[in-house]
Parts: sequence; C-alpha cells; structure tokens
Amino acid sequence: SSGVVRRDRFSGGPAREFMSSLAADERIFAADVAVDRAHVVMLEEQGIVESDVAADVLAALDDVESAGHGALPDGEDVHEAIETAVIERVGPDGGKMHTARSRNDEVAACIRYRLREDLLSAVESTLALRESLSETAERHVETVMPGYTHLQPAQPTTVAHFLLSYEAAFARDTARLLDAYDRTNVSPLGAAAFAGTPFDVDRDRTAELLGFDGVLGNSMDASSARDFLAESLAALSTHAVTLSGLAEDLVIFANKGYVELSDDYSSTSSIMPQKVNPDTLELVRATAGDAISGLNGLLTTLKGLPRAYNRDLQRATPHAWRAVDDVSAATEVAAGAVATAEWPEETLSAAAAEGFSTATGVADALAMAGLPFRTAHEVVAEAAGRIDGGTPDLATLDAVAEDVLGDTLFEYVSREHVERALDPTYSVASRDSAGGPAPEAVAAQLDDAAAQLDAH
Ligand code: ARG
Repeated sequence: SSGVVRRDRFSGGPAREFMSSLAADERIFAADVAVDRAHVVMLEEQGIVESDVAADVLAALDDVESAGHGALPDGEDVHEAIETAVIERVGPDGGKMHTARSRNDEVAACIRYRLREDLLSAVESTLALRESLSETAERHVETVMPGYTHLQPAQPTTVAHFLLSYEAAFARDTARLLDAYDRTNVSPLGAAAFAGTPFDVDRDRTAELLGFDGVLGNSMDASSARDFLAESLAALSTHAVTLSGLAEDLVIFANKGYVELSDDYSSTSSIMPQKVNPDTLELVRATAGDAISGLNGLLTTLKGLPRAYNRDLQRATPHAWRAVDDVSAATEVAAGAVATAEWPEETLSAAAAEGFSTATGVADALAMAGLPFRTAHEVVAEAAGRIDGGTPDLATLDAVAEDVLGDTLFEYVSREHVERALDPTYSVASRDSAGGPAPEAVAAQLDDAAAQLDAH
C-alpha cells in the first residue's frame, strides 16, 4: 500500500537520525497543518483536486492536528510525517495533498508562518519593557542621579532621563523587529521545489488564506531565501545588545546602592549569607551572547549556499527559534526587574554631587557670562586639579581665576550664579535643551514615548 511505500522512502540507513528534523519540527507542526489546509483549499478551488478528496484531506488534517505532533508516524520531517498520517487516514487519494508543491516551498512557508507569530510576541515584550521604563521614569523626573562617561561620574542627570535613554533605544529595536516581520510575512507557496509547477495554482489565494501580505515573486528565490531569518536574528541580537547595556547599568547601580532590585529579581548566595545578587540581570546581560552566536551560526550556514534548496537550510532554522525565545524571555524579565526596582532618592542625589560632577555647569556659567568656553574650561579644570577630588569651593575657584585670568571670578559672574552652578539639581534643571535631563525636556520625551507606544 502507499503507506508502506512512503515509510520506505525515508530509509536513511545509519544516517536516519542525523537527517531527520522531525523532533525539531514540533515548532512548526501547527504551521504545517495550516499550510496544508490552505494549499488543499486552493487546489480544490482551482479544480486541481476533487471536492470530496479535499474534504477528506481536510478532515484527516483535523484529526492529525488533534492527535498532536507526538502521535505522528516516523518521517524525515514533519511535512513527510503529516502527509503519511493523512494517507493513513484517507488512503492513496490523501497523496493528492502534495500536488503542485514541494517540501521546499512548504517548509519555507511554515517557518515564515510560525516566525511571524514569534516576532510579534517579541515585539510585545519590547512594548511591555518600554511601558515599564516610561512608567518608572514618570515617577522620577526630579530624581537627580549621577550620569557617567567612561564609567566615571560626569554630569548630574535624572533617573527619568537615564531610563528614557533606554526606552528610545528599545523603540528602535521594536521598529527593527517589525521591519523583519514585514519581510518574513510573505508567501513562498507555489514555488514548489524552485521551478514552479505546471498546475494552475493561485499563489495569491494561499497567501491570503494564510494571512501573508504578499507572495515572493521569483520561485527560485522563494524556496531558497532565508534572509528573513538573518534579518530577524539581527534585529533580535541588536535588541539583546541594548538589553545587555541596560542590565549592565542596573548591575553597576545595584552595586553602588543606587537601585534596589526587588527580591523577585535577585538571588542569594548558597554560602555567603549576606549576599543579594542581581542574577536575573546578569542572565539578561548574557542573553546577547547566545543571540549573537545564533546569528553567527545562521549566517555562517547560509554563506556560499548555491541556489536553490540545500539541506543545510534545515540546520539554519533552529537558530531562529532559540534566539526569539531567549530574547523575548530576557525582555520580559528586564521589564519586571525595572517595574519593581526602587531608586533611593537621597543616596542618588548625594552621589550626584560627588566628584565635582557640576564642573561642566560652572564652566558653562562662565561661558554664558562671556568668557570663551575654552578659557572657562581651563579655570574650572585648574580648580578641580588643585583640590584633588571633591568639589572646589568659591574661594578656590576665585583664586584660580586670579591666577589664570588675572582677575576675580566675580568680575564675570555673581556668587549666586556660581553657587547655583555647583548644585546638581540646578545643573539638571538648567539643561533644558531638547532631549536634555531638565524636567520639562523630559516631560516632552515622556509624551513622545507615550505617543509612539500608543501607535503600536
Ligand atoms: N526538513 C527540511 C528543512 O527543514 C525540509 C525538507 C526539504 N527537504 C528536501 N530534501 N528537499 O529544510
């Protein structure tokens, strides 16, 4: 019988296990049933397969679907196994399901069908993270904290400004994932092995039935193309890199006592009783390594593959599943960690005053009074050097001005102006250029972030 014939087709010999993707294909089991249904409906509508045969195949597919992936007969892959299961139920006519197609266009359709759903979940996780960043930022528009360059205290900023810097980066990550979605969501069906088919198939119809936005025109491209996987993994890897930066900042801030992670996102030590470690964020930070290695593995597999289908492609696919799962999970954890973290305001504002973080503000005040900025920079740098750490007082600044400018500082600016410039809260408030940390500038950024989130 035909069932026996089909099983024999995949002998595989000693390489049987090595060749089979059946276990890994569990991920696309539901997708394959959907693709089979759409294909059979189209074949019936085009008069390629008789209505009663199509009905029997569709009923068999329902049955195969409810039995589940685990109940499939053995096969080289899920496509062959489902076809065998359909033929077992329908008889030889079940073999009409595979008219006018190949596993090459079939598998590409299944991966695209499943990945687009996974990409949308990944997108949703980025939206949740952006929401928790924005909500936390809203509460900390006035919470002054130290800002860093080279990991050295640089200038005061606010917790809101810091958090929104990541929100903005994650907004671009969302956009990149959606771009990848657009190029994933097109149908290769009807390409058959690569050279099309003599049957009068309606490629637009199967695309429509499966919710694809369009079809891939060239049939050789349609069965060969995996750049949608590369693009998706690149978007996921880029997002994972942004996540790793956020995780690293939070690990550092937790270490300094600038942020307090909730117990749910911390871990204790099995030996050191006093420890509360930021383990979840360290794992978030590590996820980028996995995603990037997946992207590397994928691109290395794809590099130099000739047209059209080559079995190497079977090993390209799992990289995408791993990356999309790992990165989405890390994004969700990061969102939870951000939403539940506390930012101790007093510790932060005390820290913001350390290390003469307002030096730029003092130089700005002198420059605003008419001194060339370079000269102002020299005066403040000299004062910073004289006191060797900490913030110079007015007398020190004035003594330096006498030496460098031959004049008292207060020829140029009032005492009050210099005093204000030395205050981190004033420093932040004065930096009200568009996109800056001043509360009203941050309010505008919060509005932009909310508008962009609403648009999704
Ligand atoms: N399981 C294969 C894959 O994942 C699809 C089957 C195409 N096989 C073939 N020998 N043409 O790519």
